[in-house]
Amino acid sequence: MTSASPRASSSSKTVFPRKVSSIAFAIGGLASFVIFASLLLFTHPIGSSVTGYFYGYETTQHVVQFHHSTDLDSSHQNPSPDSTSDSPPLTQDSQDKLLPISSQDSTDVRLGEETNSGRSSNVSMDEEATRDSIETECDLYHGSWVYDPRGPLYTNNSCPLLTQMQNCQGNGRPDKGYENWRWKPSQCDLPRFDAKKFLELMRGKTLAFIGDSVARNQMESMMCLLWQVETPVNRGNRKMQRWHFRSSSVMIARMWSSWLVHQFNEPFGFAPEGVTKLKLDQPDERIMEALPNFDVVVLSSGHWFAKQSVYILNDEIVGGQLWWPDKSKPAKVNNVEAFGISVETIMRAMAKHPNYTGLTILRTWSPDHYEGGAWNTGGSCTGKVEPLSPGKLVKNGFTEIMHEKQATGFHRAVADDGLGNRSKKLKLMDITEAFGYRHDGHPGPYRSPDPKKITKRGPDGQPPPQDCLHWCMPGPVDTWNEMVLEIIRRDLEGR
Ligand SMILES: *[C@@H]1O[C@H](CO)[C@@H](O)[C@H](O)[C@H]1NC(C)=O
Ligand SMILES: *[C@@H]1O[C@H](CO)[C@@H](O)[C@H](O)[C@H]1NC(C)=O
Ligand SMILES: *[C@@H]1O[C@H](CO)[C@@H](O)[C@H](O)[C@H]1NC(C)=O
Ligand SMILES: *[C@@H]1O[C@H](CO)[C@@H](O)[C@H](O)[C@H]1NC(C)=O
Repeated sequence: MTSASPRASSSSKTVFPRKVSSIAFAIGGLASFVIFASLLLFTHPIGSSVTGYFYGYETTQHVVQFHHSTDLDSSHQNPSPDSTSDSPPLTQDSQDKLLPISSQDSTDVRLGEETNSGRSSNVSMDEEATRDSIETECDLYHGSWVYDPRGPLYTNNSCPLLTQMQNCQGNGRPDKGYENWRWKPSQCDLPRFDAKKFLELMRGKTLAFIGDSVARNQMESMMCLLWQVETPVNRGNRKMQRWHFRSSSVMIARMWSSWLVHQFNEPFGFAPEGVTKLKLDQPDERIMEALPNFDVVVLSSGHWFAKQSVYILNDEIVGGQLWWPDKSKPAKVNNVEAFGISVETIMRAMAKHPNYTGLTILRTWSPDHYEGGAWNTGGSCTGKVEPLSPGKLVKNGFTEIMHEKQATGFHRAVADDGLGNRSKKLKLMDITEAFGYRHDGHPGPYRSPDPKKITKRGPDGQPPPQDCLHWCMPGPVDTWNEMVLEIIRRDLEGR
């Protein structure tokens, strides 16, 4: 009774103002989102310590079950330690009173008090910041995390749409400070999320989040932020989650697409049934069909490229992840390259869609923070209570290469001559580096409300299975929607 889960939302039957009902979204029922999310967590061998694993080709099929978390063969792990970055990538704005994080000063910097003495007291920092950023259009993605005692804009109790796995406070997480860090771009301020402003800017429009469980994480953060000013009407169905804000006719939608490209299971060439096949050069047709309904799309993907699938280009099998029939013959495309190709494919297809002229925001790879192992080999993010200090960022080889391939795929699509000025509607929301510092923002062991759950290392030294991939809500993920608002504002008001 505490929360309206996605599952609950599927029960309402509503008439759609648009012809969405006629669109054949081949996604399973919303209940399967929950299962997918769980599967992603449990089948996702993340972390740079397994880089070798990702590049290897495997014929073994790993049948992963929800409640059994350690069935990946640890012999494929390549535990090469990460190297620490040699210099902090952050710059410090000298006239900015918001101190960058550091271990000594972090907790008692008070935002919005000492810096505003010269201003009339009823001008909020956010209004100032908005004015600043209109003028400069600064780079939002380089900066630092600053402590903000004002805390988040919602709590686990004030947001009814919160997946239990991300309800860290509700799941017993003892510390709360991680909720209070704000992202501060070096050259300007990123305004705090202004739900009224968002709804006004988006009046009559539809924003869709498309992707996997991390996209759902972001969508739910958006819903929590908006819920604080208006209770939306559930217009979702079994195929798509949709919420309508009456006052402004704004629709927030979410579509599941794990890889963003065409996916099928039928036998193909020498790849048998039961193995997922991806046509890397064809966009997910369900996205293409739905696009005319959307005005802004926040797109993301990536983590499913760690899962088993077969890659097809020009109707030829060119590679596979955790599947390759003949180890003596090298595959042409590994999962990292496949990811880059898929990004280029979907971006190009969206930009060229005849009936979609919306704004497309590609949210970059969301970094995970498993330490001391992968998700299934004792990796942990327990006990991280604040962001890493500048200069303390630990490079993660897999994160870096996935981000690089993703950005390259994006830029190749944007550079397509055929797009003309439509390329201006493609935006890269480049959060990967900033979120590399947020090892404190994940649920860790606080993934479930089970009061008996194990949150400490066992006698064998092993931590319990953790979620160091998704983000607590409220938490750092809310920053993504502040960025989305800023990108939309710049697009609509900018010129
Ligand atoms: C501050 O508040 C006062 C009274 O509430 C109002 O008259 C004034 O216009 C406000 N100033 C700004 C800059 O909003
Ligand atoms: C929210 O978190 C608090 C602990 O901070 C907990 O007591 C409460 O039950 C949680 N509420 C929900 C709805 O999860
Ligand atoms: C675009 O819209 C036109 C007119 O409604 C329709 O005939 C056409 O099939 C649409 N194309 C796509 C790719 O949706
Ligand atoms: C570029 O945008 C303008 C209006 O903003 C439009 O009239 C023009 O057709 C566009 N050109 C191309 C090549 O899309």
